[in-house]
Amino acid sequence: MNTQHWIHHFKANTRLNHELQLPEAPCSLPEADRKAIANSVAIFQLGESGGGTRLRRYTRSIASLENLRGYRRAVDLFVAEEQSHAALLARTVTHLRGDLLQKQWTNSIFRWMRDLVNLEFNIQVLLTAELIAEAYFGLLTLRCKDPVVQTVAKKLLRDEMGHLSFQRDFLFERLKTLTPATQRLWRWQFQFIHRITAAVVAWDHRACLHTLHITPADFRARAARCWESFQTRLERRLRENQHQDAGVTRGCSDGAPTGKAALL
Ligand SMILES: [Fe+2]
Ligand SMILES: [Fe+2]
Repeated sequence: MNTQHWIHHFKANTRLNHELQLPEAPCSLPEADRKAIANSVAIFQLGESGGGTRLRRYTRSIASLENLRGYRRAVDLFVAEEQSHAALLARTVTHLRGDLLQKQWTNSIFRWMRDLVNLEFNIQVLLTAELIAEAYFGLLTLRCKDPVVQTVAKKLLRDEMGHLSFQRDFLFERLKTLTPATQRLWRWQFQFIHRITAAVVAWDHRACLHTLHITPADFRARAARCWESFQTRLERRLRENQHQDAGVTRGCSDGAPTGKAALL
């Protein structure tokens, strides 16, 4: 995994979030829309505001792996970027004259789930939230009429696309060590958990989605497309890696260097 690339990326990108200028005009959305969007954004704000303690603790367990050298530093910077998202969303909630939350039931479930198994599962739950965020911030960018919400949602959407790429790089390193059958099992449980999460979020945020003229079913379909796109790219990389490995094995057995062997 090219952790140096991610270290540079997070350092440069997080600074932009701290410096992001927001339009100064007060919110002029209709009262019902303003309230619904403020409540919904406050839930995402709480989700972004974790300190990453458990994630950092897990990363210690793989710190010595050669292909993940630098991963701990990259995760520290990734957590700092998520905290910059929490700060931007807090400014958005204030702009919408909403209340910041200390606790909320879907957020509590996410936090509980993340600690259930191991690092890979923690990343998977985080990734599920980021795939949902991709659909959510994409909709706010396109459909919310408030310029502050639009500006923040657009920046967060771009950042979350980067996070998806970061998580994909990590999962590729871990999943390539599994057999194709175990990779398929992983895919099924990931898709299952993602579908349930998307359904819960669509229901929990239905008032906000209504102001954007989106039904819960539309939201679930959008979230499913985000999942499909992520998974397709991950599987393509895994397949390419398998073909390369097969080339190395053939190259070793018949003496003709192919695939990775040809590069050595
Ligand atoms: Fe985020
Ligand atoms: Fe993220």
